[in-house]
Formats: sequence, structure tokens, C-alpha cells
Amino acid sequence: MTSVYQGREQTEAKHFILRRYLQTLAFKTLHGGWGTLAYIDGFSGPWQSRTPDHSDSSFMIAIQVLKDAQEKVRESGKRPRIKCFFVEENPDSFTQLQAAVAAHHDPASGFYIETFNGKFENAVTQIQRTIANSFALTFIDPTGWTGYEFAKVKPIFEHAQGEVLLNFMFDFVNRFTASSDPVTLTSFDGILGDKWKQRLDAFSLPREEALMALFREQFWKAGKFNYVLSTPIEKISDRTHFHIVYGTRSPEGLAAYRDVEYAALKDHGMRRAAARQVIQEAKTGQFVLFGAEEMTSMAELSMDAQIANIKNQAKDWLRNQLPSCPKPFSEIWPPMLDQFMLRKTDAKQVCVELGKAGEIRETWRLNGSRRRTPDDADKIERP
Ligand SMILES: C[S@@+](CC[C@H](N)C(=O)[O-])C[C@H]1O[C@@H](n2cnc3c(N)ncnc32)[C@H](O)[C@@H]1O
Repeated sequence: MTSVYQGREQTEAKHFILRRYLQTLAFKTLHGGWGTLAYIDGFSGPWQSRTPDHSDSSFMIAIQVLKDAQEKVRESGKRPRIKCFFVEENPDSFTQLQAAVAAHHDPASGFYIETFNGKFENAVTQIQRTIANSFALTFIDPTGWTGYEFAKVKPIFEHAQGEVLLNFMFDFVNRFTASSDPVTLTSFDGILGDKWKQRLDAFSLPREEALMALFREQFWKAGKFNYVLSTPIEKISDRTHFHIVYGTRSPEGLAAYRDVEYAALKDHGMRRAAARQVIQEAKTGQFVLFGAEEMTSMAELSMDAQIANIKNQAKDWLRNQLPSCPKPFSEIWPPMLDQFMLRKTDAKQVCVELGKAGEIRETWRLNGSRRRTPDDADKIERP
């Protein structure tokens, strides 16, 4: 296995989500009437990059995706503008960042790049100017838990036509919130809020879930988002390493993110299996070789088993909603996707299965319709 991501499978998963989500967002916004899409990278790097052109860095991944999307949207006669804003505090990294992105700043083609050498929290005013009148995606990818105090970065989170993707360093936060050092404990106030320890203890949940619930609540408040999702990305050792947290106000964003998350976890599961094999080989001297196809089906099997389980939980949730129905499917799937790690296609299947079992009316099949799954306008109701 030779890959620039060898030994950095979590980074690969993070970059996979960024690339896929940004692609989807760029086409949706630029085809959907937005003249300008802004992309903000608050912690740009380069950091542990292994390629001379930094194509394994978030900033270069974004430039490639956005250039490609801009070019394709142009073919339909539109003239979309892209604005990138890259922040990096470390002076040496910043010099490399500037050198790598300079050639891509191309105002004549409507592709703008601004760079900022300093702390993300000190770039807020400048970023606000850049994202005004644009749809904006902000990517926050720190090495620890500081540098994005919500009180300071709130104006970016609150940008109404905007979304945030954040790498929450769960392992560090988990370890250091258990510290007895008062200075360390206070350093979490900026992301977990005042008196976070009492509020954390008040959740009657296992620690990981409680910590994620607390963080999601603060993140949600900072941006007044409608939906906040989090995707756990695991270490080879199977302990959760970090969570990608995503905030949006749009149901379409929610559906798009769940699709990307599904693809990422499927892909990541496969690569995790591969990484584990190599370790086993080093430890035991024995190496069981799986073909790529077998590896994919192993990952798919476990994902499918997981999804089946989550769909059952979603069925119970929907059964509980039925007294307040009828509601159109468009009012059922967003809260379902918000609560459960499912895609819109899974939400449709939940309804189809409950329909077949006679628990809800198959309204999508009425009046001679041959549709097999509900559309947004179909009523979800008791038989
Ligand atoms: C995890 S790395 C970023 C990796 C990059 N986003 C990627 O995926 O390729 C974090 C970067 O943020 C920089 N950094 C640390 N604190 C910062 C701050 N407060 N504001 C801006 N940059 C910071 C570090 O120097 C480092 O380059």
C-alpha cells in the first residue's frame, strides 16, 4: 500500500468528507442561483503534507474542487465567483501556504484568494467582509481545542447563508477535561461554555455521548443552526479519535451531508481494515490477504447491519410521531435525519417498510401511482 495517507487514515477520512461535501455544495449553490461561493479555512496548514504541491492539504483540495466546479458551471452560461480565505498562524507554514496558492488567485476568472497570517479569531472582521453577499462554508480544523472560541467566531457562524464544518478533537478534549489543573479546565470555557463541568455531569449519558451533546449544543447556539450533526472518525485502535461536526440551516444541506457521511464511513471502514491487517502482519508475522472486493463487501456488510439497526430505531421514532400526523414526508425526513445517522433514501425505506406492514397508509401509491417510495408532498399518516 503506497499512499500519501498511509498511517493517516483519519486525515484521509476528513479530507474525503471535505472534498465530497464541498463538491456537492458548490454545484448546488452555483447552479441554484448563488453568484458567489466563499470558502473559509480557519486553520489551513500545510501540516504534515507529503506532496510537493500540497494536494493532500485541505486548502489545495478546496482549490481543486472549486476550480473544477466553477469551470463546469460556466459551461451552462453562468459566471460564478469563488472567494477563498485561508488563515494560518505559523509563519513558516504561512510562507508555504502563500507560495502554493498564489498562482490560483485569478480575478479575471472570478477566482479570488485572500490569505491571513495570524490567529483565526483575529481574522473575523476581514472574513465577514469576504463572505458578505455570498454563500459561505467555513472549515475549522485545529490541532487542539483552542483557537475558535465561540464568543469570538460567532459572527462567522451566524452568517445566515452559511454552514460550518469542524474537526472536533475528541480524544484530546476527553482526556484534558478530566484534568485536575484549573488552567487547563478553564481553557474549555470558550467551546463548552460557563460551568461546563456541572452541565456535563447533568447529562445522564456515557461520557463520549455527553461530551458530544454538550459540544453540539454550544456549536448550535453559536450559529443558531437548524441542524448540527457529528460523524465519529475512529482510530485504528478503534477508539474514537475525532468527530466531524457540521452545522446548517438547510434541510438540503442535511440530506447532502448524510450522503457524504455514509460514503466516507464506508470508505473509511475499508481502509481501517487494511491498516489493521498491516499491523497484524508486523505483530504475528502472519498476513491473511483479502482482495479489494472482499474488503469492500466486509465494510458494506457491517455498514448495512448498522443501518438496519438505526432504521429500526427510526421506525419507533416515526411510530411515536403518528398521533400528530398527517404530515407531508418533507416534514418527516429532516427531523429523522437530524436525529439518526440515515440518508434521505433510508428515510423513504422506513416509510415503505411501515407501509408494507400496514402501520402507515401507502399514500404514494394512491390514484394508480406506480411510485414505490414517498416524495416530499406525500402525506405520512395512519391507515
Ligand atoms: C490540523 S492543522 C490543519 C490541517 C489542514 N486543515 C489540512 O487538513 O490539511 C492546523 C493548522 O492550524 C495552525 N494553527 C494553530 N493555531 C492556529 C490559530 N489559532 N489560528 C490559525 N491557525 C492556527 C497550525 O499551525 C496548523 O498548520
